[in-house]
Amino acid sequence: MENLISLVNRLQRACTALGDHGEESALPTLWDALPSIAVVGGQSSGKSSVLESIVGKDFLPRGSGIVTRRPLVLQLHRIDEGREYAEFGHLPRKRFTDFAAVRKEISDETDRETGHSRQISTVPIYLSIYSPYVVNLTLVDLPGLTKVAVDGQPESVVMDIENMVRSYIEKPNCIILAISPANQDLATSDAIKISREVDPKGERTFGVLTKIDLMDKGTDAVDILEGKAYRLQFPWIGVVNRSQQDINKNVDMIAARHREREYFAQTPEYKHLGHRMGSEYLGKVLSKHLESVIKSRIPGLQSLISKTIIELESELSRLGKPIATDAGGKLYMIMEICRIFDGIFKEHLDGVRPGGDKI
Ligand code: GDP
Ligand code: NA
Ligand code: MG
Repeated sequence: MENLISLVNRLQRACTALGDHGEESALPTLWDALPSIAVVGGQSSGKSSVLESIVGKDFLPRGSGIVTRRPLVLQLHRIDEGREYAEFGHLPRKRFTDFAAVRKEISDETDRETGHSRQISTVPIYLSIYSPYVVNLTLVDLPGLTKVAVDGQPESVVMDIENMVRSYIEKPNCIILAISPANQDLATSDAIKISREVDPKGERTFGVLTKIDLMDKGTDAVDILEGKAYRLQFPWIGVVNRSQQDINKNVDMIAARHREREYFAQTPEYKHLGHRMGSEYLGKVLSKHLESVIKSRIPGLQSLISKTIIELESELSRLGKPIATDAGGKLYMIMEICRIFDGIFKEHLDGVRPGGDKI
C-alpha cells in the first residue's frame, strides 16, 4: 500500500505540472478528489513545527507572528536509499540538498508573491521532499488563523485567512490536522472551532496537542489526550516540539525526537499514554490513515480518471497533433500518466473486491 500513496503523489504532481493550462481541463477536479492532509490552527500554535517533526527535517520558516503566508503543498516521497533532496514546483529542475536553502527559498518565494509585507496569498507553493526517512504523505501547511490584522495587513486579512483555510478543509477528501496549543484553553482553539464547522462528527479530524511542556505547573493534558475533554473519532495525539530557544540553539531533529520520546515515557502523568504520543507516532498514524482513505476512494478516483482521459482526448484532438514543449505536449504527457494510473487502480480494485471477482 506504500506504493499507492506514492502513486497518488505522482498523480498530484502531474496535475501541478499542467500549470496554467489546468483551469481549462478536468484536472483541478481530479486534484480535489485526491486525499491530502491540511494543517490548521491559530497563529504560532505550532503548525509548522509539527510538519517539520513529521518530516524529521528543518526546512520551514518558523517563529512568532505570521510566518506562513501562502499555502505550502508538501509531498513526501519515500526513496529506498541515497541522499535526501527537495524540489520546488516553480523550480522543476533544481535539486536542493541543503535544507537551509529550502527554507530560504520558501521565504523568498512567499515574498515574490506578496511583497515584503505581511500580506497573504492563496497561491500555493509546491515542494517535494525525497528521503529514505519519510513516510509517503501529502501535507498542506496553511497560514495561521488570527483574530486581528497587524501593521501592513488589510482589515480583511482575518477573514481572508479563514476563507483560505476553509477552502482546503471543507473538501470531503481533506484530512484535517487540527493543532491546538496545550497552554491555552481548548475552548478557545481556532483549530477545533473551524474543523468542527466543516467536520462536525470529527470523522476526518486528527486533534494534535502541542506545547504540552509549556503548561502551567500543576496542570496536565491527560483529560484531553484521553478524549474526555473533547471527543474526536480518532484519539488525540500530544507532541512536544522544539521551543524557540531550542531552535536558536540549533537543537537538531533527532535530538528533539529523542527528548520528546523521553518526555512522554518519563512524565508520570503521561507514561500510560506514551506509546501513542509524539511526532513519530503521528507520522505513522497519518500515513496509515491516508492509505486506508485512498483504498476506499479507488473506485471513485478511477471513474474520475477515466472521465479525465476522455476530456483530455477531446482537448487534444482539438489542439491537433501535439509537440513535446507546448500545451498539447503537456496534456498528452498527463493523459499518458492517467492511463498508467488507470491500469494500476484497476489492479488494486481487483485486489480489494470481496470474493476476488475480476472486473
Ligand atoms: P505556527 O505559526 O503555527 O506555524 O507555529 P510555529 O511552528 O512557527 O511555532 C511557533 C513557536 O512556538 C516557535 O517559536 C516554536 O519553537 C514554538 N513551539 C511550537 N511547538 C512547541 C512545543 O511543543 N513546545 C515548545 N516549548 N515550543 C513550541
Ligand atoms: Na508563527
Ligand atoms: Mg507556520
